[in-house]
Amino acid sequence: MQTPSNMSDRDPRVLRAGMVGMGMIFDETYRPFFEAVDRRPLYDPAFGVCHAPLVAVATRTGRRAEAYRRHAPGGVGAFHSYEGRDAAARLAASGVDAVCVATPDDRHFEAAQAALAAGRHLLVEKPSVLRLAELDELAALARQQQVLAKVVYHKLLDPDHKRLRTFCVDGVLQHVNNGYCSLLEPKSISGSQFAEWIVGRNPGTYVAVHYIKLIDFTFGLALKRVACTGQRGVVGPADGPTWDSTQLRLVYAHADGREAAFDIHASWVTPDNFPGYVEQEVQFRFDNGVWNGHSRKRGVELTVEGLTPTQLKTTLNNHYNAPVLEPWGERAQRGYGVEVIERFMREVAMVEFGGPPTRRAERLAAAGKLAYNDLAADRQVVAAVEAMEAILARHAAGQPDCTVEVNAPDGGLVLRTPGSEAAEVLYRPQV
Ligand SMILES: NC(=O)c1ccc[n+]([C@@H]2O[C@H](COP(=O)([O-])OP(=O)(O)OC[C@H]3O[C@@H](n4cnc5c(N)ncnc54)[C@H](O)[C@@H]3O)[C@@H](O)[C@H]2O)c1
Repeated sequence: MQTPSNMSDRDPRVLRAGMVGMGMIFDETYRPFFEAVDRRPLYDPAFGVCHAPLVAVATRTGRRAEAYRRHAPGGVGAFHSYEGRDAAARLAASGVDAVCVATPDDRHFEAAQAALAAGRHLLVEKPSVLRLAELDELAALARQQQVLAKVVYHKLLDPDHKRLRTFCVDGVLQHVNNGYCSLLEPKSISGSQFAEWIVGRNPGTYVAVHYIKLIDFTFGLALKRVACTGQRGVVGPADGPTWDSTQLRLVYAHADGREAAFDIHASWVTPDNFPGYVEQEVQFRFDNGVWNGHSRKRGVELTVEGLTPTQLKTTLNNHYNAPVLEPWGERAQRGYGVEVIERFMREVAMVEFGGPPTRRAERLAAAGKLAYNDLAADRQVVAAVEAMEAILARHAAGQPDCTVEVNAPDGGLVLRTPGSEAAEVLYRPQV
């Protein structure tokens, strides 16, 4: 192919990808992406044909990497596998251009820091990190190294949520006042899938965060206060640090000073024979309307003797990452969960190959302005997560019902305990 005159001359255009963590989310979204891009590379008139091979992976034991390699199709199994505690750092130091991090949420920071410090573009699973100080450090590293640092919130690409945001941006739905969201994961998640890293964790950080981001990105409000409570006793002891379910309340302010409040309920102890995989429901109430969304009941109901609702679900989410036989005979696994990863690779390809090298900084700045996935735009979400984590830790230590005030006179995140004058500043700068 001839290189247009405005394009980088780096040819062939290849983005060598590294993957840290090969668990459930790798299997559901990254694996289908790498398998699809192996068959059909990315193409855009601006950057031409761009390959994005998976050249290296890092996991704790290497077992999942070898299990996948055995049946990876095409050339996808030709990756180098790093294992052990420092696997992510060794992967970052190897010849990769972009690193995807899908380790448990309290292990994102180390791997992300290693990737950025080595000058690699970064894509990290939600929630990006658990503390604002960590977010600041990663954002500063990305600026220094002139690379992209992005986070995956695939629900922003759900067609229903795109429509909701379009109605808000176009003024069809006006001035959100309040709402609720629920996200209920099956017991198998806390009981077997995540059993290794579940101690001290909670389903709010794991899944409520999807809706924290949806609210943050869709409505563009300023976070003011965070409250949270929860229940224990199924996943771990009733007085321990591991949570079965959480109820989070976020209060925001509109630019005109009016407030909006949202309750987000999350659980990972829903029975495994629940008719859908994840219960995902929202209701948002506006000055002039109501949006009711149910991601599980989108219209399909399936019954198969001996298979539903365990191996197959009764109410399927065919929008997320459904394996399908395309009408033209090809097997594919497609949906917004895969699209969001492809989109990141396209953004990286645009930075590296979408024009002359002399204008790379402009292209990097343009990609960095995309608030839906840029790490620097994840501040309010990480603030809510950090507040929720601190409130739950206090609760587990015997002080329930603490609240966090955001951008208070005494700090950016201030934890207040009921019945006490004393306050703890979790994060000093403004959020
Ligand atoms: N986008 C989504 O909707 C979605 C859904 C599920 C999970 N996730 C996110 O993906 C991340 C991983 O979740 P999962 O469901 O795949 O978990 P998992 O437990 O199935 O897999 C975790 C993987 O990380 C690896 N790992 C753990 N510590 C490591 C380390 N220090 N270095 C290298 N590898 C390490 C493990 O070997 C394993 O391969 C979490 O942050 C989670 O929040 C996102």
